[in-house]
Formats: sequence, structure tokens, C-alpha cells
Amino acid sequence: MITTPPVVTVDGPSGAGKGTLCRALAQRLGWHLLDSGALYRLLAWEALRRSLDLTQLAPLVSLATQLEVRFVMTVLGLQIIFEGQDVSQQLATEAVGSTASKIACLSPIRKALHQRQRAFCQPPGLIADGRDMGTVIFPEARAKIYLYASLEERASRRLRQLQSRSVNVKFEPLLGEMSERDQRDTQRLVAALAAAEGALLLDSTDLPIEQVIQLALNYVECRVISKGLAYTAPD
Ligand code: DC
Repeated sequence: MITTPPVVTVDGPSGAGKGTLCRALAQRLGWHLLDSGALYRLLAWEALRRSLDLTQLAPLVSLATQLEVRFVMTVLGLQIIFEGQDVSQQLATEAVGSTASKIACLSPIRKALHQRQRAFCQPPGLIADGRDMGTVIFPEARAKIYLYASLEERASRRLRQLQSRSVNVKFEPLLGEMSERDQRDTQRLVAALAAAEGALLLDSTDLPIEQVIQLALNYVECRVISKGLAYTAPD
């Protein structure tokens, strides 16, 4: 009998389609979802709102340990509920993403968020979306996916996403910001973005999202379900 909830990790750079894939996996499997980027974004957004000095670690770490956040899956997407309000739109800008990426380089911040992320692992299972899910937070995960796409394709997708939310952005500066963020996320000294050992590598540049979802579902079926590793509730 398997009493530890299984975890599927999905890591990769921004704009590769992780959010869509993870929501689809969580919905189809009926599992929980951790959007770890939202934790770093929320911390960045709240630090900016409070005008915290981002070079001062102690107030940032203290904020990281206090943030009360809930994720609610709706037909319209994932809502990030902070202090009773849905702040998903406020967190979606590239400016917040870029600040999140800067504070994510700080080891004490990552440590402060470590246990909080692990606590999302609840029955019957967890889909964990981020940069270090398979390498640092859930190294024991039975299924690990690394989802990526070319920078140009990811920037085009992000442009369409932001424009659909009436955010006014231009392609070239967005591409520059995303490239800078890629550099920071892959080069930092702690928990740098990298494919976990043995991860399924999925290039979504030319793949429709439905096909990405199907490939990932087949992989989870093969690594978890058909191996009898799905969660069984104790009697
Ligand atoms: O996935 P995202 O774009 O919402 O993440 C925003 C930033 O947060 C990302 O550029 C780097 C950081 N991040 C991280 O360092 N580790 C994670 N597990 C998730 C996000």
C-alpha cells in the first residue's frame, strides 16, 4: 500500500508552457498544484509594495515565512489568493517576475520557502511547477519533467498572454527581459535552473499544448500509475 502521495515535478524556463501543463495535469489527475514561482512573485510584489530594501535580507526572510497564500483552481485558471484577494493579475507582470528572479538568487530566501513548498505534498498527489522542483525541493519525485522552448517562441507566447490581459508590452524589450531572467535563473549559485537527472525532456517549441499534455500524461501513467505507485488511502 502506498501512503506517500506521489509528486510530479515540472521545471523549465518561463514561458515554456509549465503553467498550462501543470494545471491540466492537476485537473486530469485530481491532484494538488504547487505554483512555486507564484510564491517568489508574491514575495517580490509584497516587498515592492512595502518598499523594502531588496538588499536587506532579514525583513525579506521574515516576510517569506509569514506570507499566507492559497491557490484555487477555477475554470478561468489558477487564482492566487493573498489576504483574501485574488492577486494573480498583479503578479503576472514581467517586472514582478524579474524582481522575483533577483530575490530567488538569495539562499536564505530559498531556505525560508523550502518547507512551505514541501507542505503542498498532500494526498492524493502533487504537481509541482518551478525551477528547482525536481533537483532541490522534491528530489524523491517519481516523475520529473523538464519543459523548454526557444526564447523567441516563449517571448511570443508571453506577449500574447500579456496582451490578452490588456497589458501594454512590446516584443523586443520583453525578449530582452526574458533572456536576462533566463541567464539569472540558470547561472545563479543556489538551485540554478537545470533539468533533474533522468527527467523527461520536452521541447514545446513546435508542439501544440494538447500534445505536450498527452506526452506528460503518458509519462506519469508509465512512471507512477502503472507501477502501482498511486496513493492509497489508509483504511
Ligand atoms: O515561474 P515564474 O516565472 O512565475 O517564476 C518567477 C521567478 O521566480 C523565476 O524567474 C525564478 C524564481 N523561481 C525560482 O527561483 N524557483 C522556483 N522554484 C520558481 C520560481
